[in-house]
Amino acid sequence: ASTLGAAAAEKGRYFGTAVAAYKLSDSVYSAILNREFTSVTPENEMKWDATEPSQGTFSYTSADTIVNRAIANGQKVRGHALAWHSQQPSWAQNLSGTALRSAMVNHVTQVATHYKGKIDSWDVVNEAFADGSTGARRDSNLQRTGNDWIEVAFRTARAADPAAKLCYNDYNTDGQNAKSNAVYAMVQDFKARGVPIDCVGFQSHFNAASPLPSDYQANLQRFANLGVDVQITELDIEGSGTAQATSFAATVRACLAVTRCNGITVWGIRDTDSWRASGTPLLFDGSGNPKAAYTAVLNELGGT
Ligand code: G3I
Repeated sequence: ASTLGAAAAEKGRYFGTAVAAYKLSDSVYSAILNREFTSVTPENEMKWDATEPSQGTFSYTSADTIVNRAIANGQKVRGHALAWHSQQPSWAQNLSGTALRSAMVNHVTQVATHYKGKIDSWDVVNEAFADGSTGARRDSNLQRTGNDWIEVAFRTARAADPAAKLCYNDYNTDGQNAKSNAVYAMVQDFKARGVPIDCVGFQSHFNAASPLPSDYQANLQRFANLGVDVQITELDIEGSGTAQATSFAATVRACLAVTRCNGITVWGIRDTDSWRASGTPLLFDGSGNPKAAYTAVLNELGGT
């Protein structure tokens, strides 16, 4: 295979990217998107502020553009994200208690229903745990509606779109640490109590301060052993040249070594598409040329 998507498919996996709707008219961007990737994640277009800018008024134009284009091209769609403390519209930021809980449930229902049948996997809840050593939930307006807000979001998403796989997604959970231990305990509890959860997303934003953990594969495996799929959902790695290529290859190798790691998504196509203000964390340079990291990933997937 000579593309990321085709090589990953031979390993029984998808290879995806985050996509921004406003870039689809860029022919360099869309050519790489069509050629290389078998899954897409809307980078911002499905977030609460984008899809429900005023309460009860839904706006799907940009997300629909990405989803319909992906389906027409035979690409899977990862939905991102139904419930998150960040990127909330201002009206939701100003709600609390039962009013916020009801608004969250309605939001999950409406958005998951709109995309019913079109989403492979939903990030139902994003980034709900605190960084550091506490293993606590992140304080947020959603958390303050009650500790059960996460399971309510999952049950609501399942009712709206029973065929979509429902994921919990977070960062700094890539290795075994207090935060990932807390997510692990939640998933274990959800499985024990029958709360619907099908997958856990590991964002995998790596840089010098937060590199690929040495126990990455072991961490993916312990979650898989709970009976969920694991997915690498927002991969990017700061750096360049051989060092960066080696880290990308090691990340892919870890996924391939875990049977239930069923897909990898990079968080953008070209370095210039990255959310990071500076740096070169992706697989293609600003001109759309494949980097050493691209070749390393392709080869690790068994392609050439
Ligand atoms: O849409 C406005 C535009 O109208 C305005 O002109 C422009 C000026 O700055 O801002 C635009 O909104 C920006 C939006 O991206 C679209 O480009 C926001 O300011 C900016 O904050 C937003 O950043 C996104 C960020 O999530 C928001 O939290 C990044 O693109 C996106 O890559 C990033 O993705 C997150 C994942 O959702 C969750 N995990 C971490 C990851 C990286 O931060």
